[in-house]
Amino acid sequence: MKSIITGGAGFIGSHLTEYLLGQGDEVVVLDDLSTGSLRNLASVSDNPRFRFVQGSILDRALVGQVVAGSDRVFHLAAAVGVKLIVEEPLTSLRTNIHGTENVLDAALAAGAILLLASTSEVYGKNTADSLDEEADRILGSALKSRWTYAGAKGIDEAFAHAYWTEYGLRVAIVRLFNTVGPRQTGRYGMVFPNLVGQAQRGEPLTVFGDGRQTRCFSYVGDIVPALVRLAETPAAYGRAVNMGGSQEISILGLAERVIDVLDSESSITLIPYDEAYAPGYEDMRRRVPNNGLARELVAFEPLTPLDEVIRNVAGAATPGGAGNEAMTLGGSSHDASGDALAFAGGAPRTDAR
Ligand SMILES: NC(=O)c1ccc[n+]([C@@H]2O[C@H](COP(=O)([O-])OP(=O)(O)OC[C@H]3O[C@@H](n4cnc5c(N)ncnc54)[C@H](O)[C@@H]3O)[C@@H](O)[C@H]2O)c1
Repeated sequence: MKSIITGGAGFIGSHLTEYLLGQGDEVVVLDDLSTGSLRNLASVSDNPRFRFVQGSILDRALVGQVVAGSDRVFHLAAAVGVKLIVEEPLTSLRTNIHGTENVLDAALAAGAILLLASTSEVYGKNTADSLDEEADRILGSALKSRWTYAGAKGIDEAFAHAYWTEYGLRVAIVRLFNTVGPRQTGRYGMVFPNLVGQAQRGEPLTVFGDGRQTRCFSYVGDIVPALVRLAETPAAYGRAVNMGGSQEISILGLAERVIDVLDSESSITLIPYDEAYAPGYEDMRRRVPNNGLARELVAFEPLTPLDEVIRNVAGAATPGGAGNEAMTLGGSSHDASGDALAFAGGAPRTDAR
């Protein structure tokens, strides 16, 4: 089996690369290293079934060449994060829309199965108790760049669905909710690695707002095998499937848990939103997935306990606590890789308006 992973040098992509090589696949990673890093792929670089191609999904000819002859394409490459989208709106819109179209065309030409990574951000401000895949999208103005990522990912989903209905492309869409684990960078303000890093360094854990905003974190080790099963499930083609954690926790509660689990001396500091972000910035109060469809289709269960995730993230960090940040090179800025907007701790001010 030959699998292509776009964005394979990133956080989730590098775990997927390791997993597929472990399954005996031949794996080719296509990544421009904008937010990913070769360091994330250090454990597989000597594997004879692994190949890395540095390049962009915006390079249509290259995408066609890389994908030709493959069986499966896992499309994870994306411009992620509010700051990047605000600072380089055209680049990120093009990457997330035209880049995806290139990948769809290449998978179609190759007769390959495609797994498209989407996001819970597509639900926008919908704070329902349990968001199922049919839930409404509640987005702010299209002129506010805060919503550009959600808009582009929504277009990606619509493209994928149309390729399924009009061309019969076998494409499954996954909507990820706050996936966490080792190698997720804290550099741009993602809450989980930042809180863990602060606790390890004995610094105050910084929590934005009143800290009562909630999230459902899921562990990358639970997500990755389910992604592969989803790609192999014909009943998933043409559909979008949620995958997230089952335990809703406030960011303040997470900070307390991190201190407790890591036996840290750190305190917690609340930072008003207006100091953390540009005025008027909207953070989501909550986002809770209904994982029923993923459970039914691929027996997805987010089983790894939060305490274990905290220990794994801390364990992967380098001495001195730079850890997850130091593992990511490449540096173009983003402050919310993936399921944006659960920030804390050292996040750069974002001008999302
Ligand atoms: N981590 C999460 O919680 C989460 C949540 C929802 C959705 N997602 C989605 O999952 C995917 C992976 O996210 P991640 O958290 O691993 O982020 P990441 O930033 O670690 O990975 C993205 C990768 O894509 C690469 N990339 C960016 N632009 C590219 C281009 N033009 N050509 C080739 N490669 C390019 C980056 O270098 C990086 O390696 C993304 O599509 C993201 O939208 C992630």
